[in-house]
Amino acid sequence: MRDLRISVMDRCNFRCPYCMPRETYHERYRFLGSHERLSFDEIVRLTRLFAHLGVRKLRLTGGEPLLRANLPDLIGDLSDIAGIDDVALTTNGVLLARYASELKAAGLQRVTVSLDSLDPQVFARMSGGFGGVDEVLDGIEHARRAELTPIKVNAVVQRGVNDHTVLDLLERFRGSGVIVRFIEYMDVGNRNHWSEELVVPSRELMARVAQRWPLEPLEPGYRGEVARRYAFTDGAGEVGFISSVSQPFCGDCTRARLSSDGVLYTCLFATHGTSLRDALRGGASDDQLLELMRGVWTGRADRYSEHRATLRRAPGDERKVEMFYIGG
Ligand code: GTP
Ligand code: 5AD
Ligand code: SF4
Repeated sequence: MRDLRISVMDRCNFRCPYCMPRETYHERYRFLGSHERLSFDEIVRLTRLFAHLGVRKLRLTGGEPLLRANLPDLIGDLSDIAGIDDVALTTNGVLLARYASELKAAGLQRVTVSLDSLDPQVFARMSGGFGGVDEVLDGIEHARRAELTPIKVNAVVQRGVNDHTVLDLLERFRGSGVIVRFIEYMDVGNRNHWSEELVVPSRELMARVAQRWPLEPLEPGYRGEVARRYAFTDGAGEVGFISSVSQPFCGDCTRARLSSDGVLYTCLFATHGTSLRDALRGGASDDQLLELMRGVWTGRADRYSEHRATLRRAPGDERKVEMFYIGG
């Protein structure tokens, strides 16, 4: 266990159909109440224990993490924990212009911004009609000025939806230091109407990119890196491909996930988790919590992506956890 992804907020100010489709997440959808979410003190206590078990890298996610009030206070405390050497945040970018410098001052090292297309209409379709390209670009610019670097841009690619705009996205960021990464559309959760025809395999996408700008493979930045990295041979930086459908990477997975209500999951595609919050609020000692966490981790056998084809679940099968709740 090296990498802990903490969802600090289950709500989001977007409604990306591949993650939080509007028909489900409407005004009356019941998100967690604030007492159900872990408090900052609880998150910090658990993270200290995770660090004790080997976690070195934290990623704060959501929903949209910047919707959580006073987030910089949490970041300040997390970045002070002994053993933690990387604190990053994944955001849709809309609130980044407002918070970038405060986040940096608190100890955040870098941000990853989700941006699926620069075409305003395609963007609107993929964000469920919320936010705008200019706001996100402005957020990225503020992150750059605040030195929340290296900045990465994540784009989920869906065939027939935004795959005709991927070269524009690269063109915009090539040479800027911002690293664009394309994510194969995944069957996370149960509500996004995923189908294999909507996936553009990275191999195909890469061929399209390489035709325009020749690429050469780079070594992974660290063991178990999710993205495969390629450099533009003309020196204009790099691009990444996250191919969890066509080339699963479960074997190298060192990621644990903590939902906003304190449930520990060992896979993005999990159907079950273990509530650390209930143990914690029930008065468990640090040693008891450590034992619980260790047991969950050593007992894990997750390799969903490698089994996807044979596992294909029938309607009514056990439900997978939703992406907005576990944070990607
Ligand atoms: P870096 O530390 O910058 O390398 O970030 P990262 O790639 O670990 O984190 P990021 O949040 O940017 O992850 C990118 C995307 O990869 C996520 O949003 C998911 O879509 C996908 N991803 C991350 N972890 C997993 C995983 O364990 N399984 C699968 N199938 N996909 C994952
Ligand atoms: N498939 C692939 N990526 C997804 N994300 C959300 N849902 C999916 C999905 N079904 C991405 C977001 C964001 C990151 C947290 O996960 O676009 O970049
Ligand atoms: Fe919100 Fe990110 Fe999910 Fe889009 S993908 S709805 S921005 S959490």
